Amino acid sequence: MDQYLPDAYTVRAAIALAVRAPSVHNTQPWDWRFSGRTAELRADAGRHLRNTDPDGRDLLVSCGCVLHHFAVAAAALGWAARIERLPEPGVLARIVLVPHDTRDGDIALAAAIPRRRSDRRRFAGRPLLVRDEVFLAKSATDHGALLRFLDAPSQLSALTGAAVAAQELHRADADYGTELATWSGRRYSPDGVPAQNAVQAVASAPRVRDFADAQLADTAESDGAVLTVLATRNDEPADRIRAGEAAGAVLLTATRLNLASCLITEPLELTSTRGLVRDCVLGGALEPQLVVRIGYLPEGAAPLPATPRRPIGEVLRPLAHPYGVGLPVPAELRGR
Ligand SMILES: Cc1cc2nc3c(=O)[nH]c(=O)nc-3n(C[C@H](O)[C@H](O)[C@H](O)COP(=O)(O)O)c2cc1C
Repeated sequence: MDQYLPDAYTVRAAIALAVRAPSVHNTQPWDWRFSGRTAELRADAGRHLRNTDPDGRDLLVSCGCVLHHFAVAAAALGWAARIERLPEPGVLARIVLVPHDTRDGDIALAAAIPRRRSDRRRFAGRPLLVRDEVFLAKSATDHGALLRFLDAPSQLSALTGAAVAAQELHRADADYGTELATWSGRRYSPDGVPAQNAVQAVASAPRVRDFADAQLADTAESDGAVLTVLATRNDEPADRIRAGEAAGAVLLTATRLNLASCLITEPLELTSTRGLVRDCVLGGALEPQLVVRIGYLPEGAAPLPATPRRPIGEVLRPLAHPYGVGLPVPAELRGR
């Protein structure tokens, strides 16, 4: 075997860790192919939520999350991911794996992947440490996005207003309701939002979506979550993928800091309410991609079960064209 190629077990292990990434309604809308030293990531169009996510933002953001987690997993296994985004139509990313000296930080970040959960419960009223806010913001900028912490009352009430308006518009949309009921309230399913991971939505705060058959008991706190908006300068497909990568980084950083977190996108799925967030929360200068709730769980809060994932065999296939196999070893790798 070529000593510069990752073996099949390594690639499978990296994908198995990567697919723990969050995705809208746990649709896991990704399609991975691998050969030689090259992976390709495509969106699985059959898993696009057309009524929840009409412009496909959540689909691309979800794929960006799994792309980020793949790079983190590969680094922990001794391979650096060189990523080319949107290399050709239909391919979201082409990733070439090159040997990498794994560092402690790579392993710590990869270890956070299976510990992360979307936690939709109310958080304790304890402010984040300034140092932790700096780490979280840096994890977003390192991936080409910006994490804005909302502290002005006007920003918070504008976000709440947009979230409540989006919920009302969605409640009146029968197709949206059917899609939500189909993809949530699940039991014994390899995808979708399980009933045991959903809490009842509260209309007055931008907390969670109104998932079907919510079974998770909320905490008794008055919600002390810190609200942030993850934004990009532009809103092209590549920006949405990068926003997903940045979201993956922010969530794993939060997990490492023992902070609970959850993504919220309902107010960003409708043009009108997304416009409110862009203009009234971000001052019109940035493109909102995700809302991220971050905070401390109250003392004694029960651990959340992990959500299920599809079998690896369904999401990982061989690449039709064996990029990399038989090609000369790149100059920078010779002699290693
Ligand atoms: C693009 C995107 C949008 C999401 N939107 C919401 C949301 O509006 N409300 C919510 O409670 N969770 C949201 N989530 C979280 C998913 O429901 C969650 O990742 C999925 O159910 C898997 O669970 P896990 O994150 O605990 O592994 C979103 C995740 C992504 C990636």
